[in-house]
Amino acid sequence: MEGSGVGVEISPMKILAIESSCDETAAAVVEDGRRILSNIIASQVEEHKLYGGVVPEIASRRHCESIVGVVNEAIETAGMTLSDIDAVAVTFAPGLIGALLVGVNFAKGLAFASGKPLIPVHHIKGHIAANYLAHPELEPPYICLAASGGHSQIMRVESYTKYSTIGRTLDDAAGEAFDKAARAMGFPYPGGVYIDKAAKVGDSKRYKLPRPHTANPYDFSFSGLKTSVINLVHNAEQKGEKVDTNDLAASFQYTVADILTGKFVAAANEYGYKTAAMAGGVAANSGLREMLEERCKASGITLYVPPIALCGDNAAMIGSQAYFEYTEAHITADGSLNAVASMPL
Ligand code: KG4
Ligand code: ZN
Repeated sequence: MEGSGVGVEISPMKILAIESSCDETAAAVVEDGRRILSNIIASQVEEHKLYGGVVPEIASRRHCESIVGVVNEAIETAGMTLSDIDAVAVTFAPGLIGALLVGVNFAKGLAFASGKPLIPVHHIKGHIAANYLAHPELEPPYICLAASGGHSQIMRVESYTKYSTIGRTLDDAAGEAFDKAARAMGFPYPGGVYIDKAAKVGDSKRYKLPRPHTANPYDFSFSGLKTSVINLVHNAEQKGEKVDTNDLAASFQYTVADILTGKFVAAANEYGYKTAAMAGGVAANSGLREMLEERCKASGITLYVPPIALCGDNAAMIGSQAYFEYTEAHITADGSLNAVASMPL
């Protein structure tokens, strides 16, 4: 065909992605990192709710039970068979080790048996890539705020696979602080979404909560804030006083959103970014989305946020990032791939 002037049609790359790092067993088929062909999630949250948090042993067991059905459903919903899939991707880090191992071993077996490339994906990189599925025009470089149950980070996204960290949490992640503060307020696990709901009808100025100082102005520290909510509730209980849960939820949410947004927009301005994105489970928070949108707009920054459905854990985001790992960084793994519980970006 060379020199004939006839274009060679390259068929899109279809990646089957698997995610099992915490309490969702998920599988998806994604085309060229940008289009979702299927996105299946089996959530275990109702079971973990009984214990007030994720029980790792239960999570691993449920992943084992669900993974075959979830993967089959992802392939079928995409209108395909395994032979139509070009590569298998999997979250290999970070997360609960037993939970990660289920996805990693399943993906290794599937890739090996079908002779397809295996692409390992870092979970937080996946969260960031959720934006590529929702916003076709978004391309690096940009600045990103990643906030989930295990991470709070401001980073420069230099390319689809290269990042550098500007600030990170020194103790609790934002989502962790939401969940622990929510537990003190009497909400079920995971509490972030309950605080979000209560905050809508609460007075955010009612309770004054601390804002910790950090040596690096772009680092976070949420542990003192979380403890002050717990102490406030306990002290009120001891004195027989009533805490207004809606007002406390609103005050807590406002403080977290103000800290995240203040540092993020300041970093964007200092480093000269006009494009920004947010990612991770906490990006679903309505107060944070609103505040960040407003303040980015005021600084002339275009902000990208995934739709709520793609903020939490899912496999489509893993399939998106896998495409870029494969095509930009040429990353593949062999049978020696292992799960890793903790790994920086
Ligand atoms: O990204 P994600 O689904 O899992 C991890 O990778 O950790 O994030 C889960 C976290 C939980 O802490 C959850 O409470 C929080 O995201 N979250 C929220 C909201 N929805 C989920 N936090 C605040 N407001 C929400 N609407
Ligand atoms: Zn996550």
